[in-house]
Amino acid sequence: MYIKLIAFIFIVISPSLYCGWDGLDRGGKSEEAMKLVPNIENGKNIYETCALCHTEQGWGMTPGIGRYYVPGAYPQLAGQHQSVLIKQLYDIRDLNRDNPVMYPFTLDKYIGGVQDVADVTGYIATLPVNQQNHHGKGDNLKNGKKLYEKNCSRCHGDNGEGDKDNFYPKLSNQHYQYMLRQFLWIKEGKRRNANIKMIKQIQNFKYKDIVDVIDYASRL
Ligand code: HEC
Ligand code: HEC
Repeated sequence: MYIKLIAFIFIVISPSLYCGWDGLDRGGKSEEAMKLVPNIENGKNIYETCALCHTEQGWGMTPGIGRYYVPGAYPQLAGQHQSVLIKQLYDIRDLNRDNPVMYPFTLDKYIGGVQDVADVTGYIATLPVNQQNHHGKGDNLKNGKKLYEKNCSRCHGDNGEGDKDNFYPKLSNQHYQYMLRQFLWIKEGKRRNANIKMIKQIQNFKYKDIVDVIDYASRL
């Protein structure tokens, strides 16, 4: 009984105590997973489940692959920083980020423990990026570029490369519709794991500016 209680406090409560303002799970499982050397072969086996939605190539669903193709419904995972993949996986699992479709697959019984999370994300990191990702209409890329350089590049990088040490996602080659949805959810506070500085930075963005800046980012 006591052992179960202690385990409960350790596993369920303590990670949330570490969550700082930036939503990072400091000293928690994400950090633990990042320190492990991935077993790529095991990662590949686990990834078979993920491929149901993210496709075998890790490209998200794009025309020609994927039976239930809806533009931007599933993000491209290939090319994303491993640190970002780990953080997002744990955030989805800890219900810091709503993803009812994927949630069950993030549980221990499907993925396994911390080493397995390191393995599957390590495997994803070996997949080549699809550069034929979705873009917007391209109506106002000049405005998008101006807004991006002023508001986004300091975190997401001039070329959308992100920053693995700070868990800033790579945006280049990510699907336009997926990013648009995430951006709106971050702005509205629906994606609760978001960085508070980013939320402040984008509060005054009008819908048209959001479309322009995301369209630009998807072409980096
Ligand atoms: C049933 C479908 C489904 C399965 C299976 C699935 N995912 Fe997902 N995944 C999604 C959807 C949908 C999203 C985007 C949700 C959103 O729009 O917020 C997502 C998002 C993600 C993200 C966040 C990406 C980002 O850019 O922030 C990661 C990481 C991820 N999935 C990894 C995995 C891994 C690893 C597995 C296998 C263990 C997996 N997924 C299995 C549907 C799925
Ligand atoms: C202060 C740093 C910062 C700034 C400035 C910032 N972001 Fe972010 N952004 C982040 C972080 C950190 C995340 C991931 C949050 C999380 O873990 O959920 C993120 C997530 C995102 C995502 C979701 C990516 C994914 O794979 O799910 C998009 C899209 C995005 N940012 C676009 C932008 C755009 C466009 C701008 C400029 C208008 C911008 N961000 C400005 C830090 C920043």
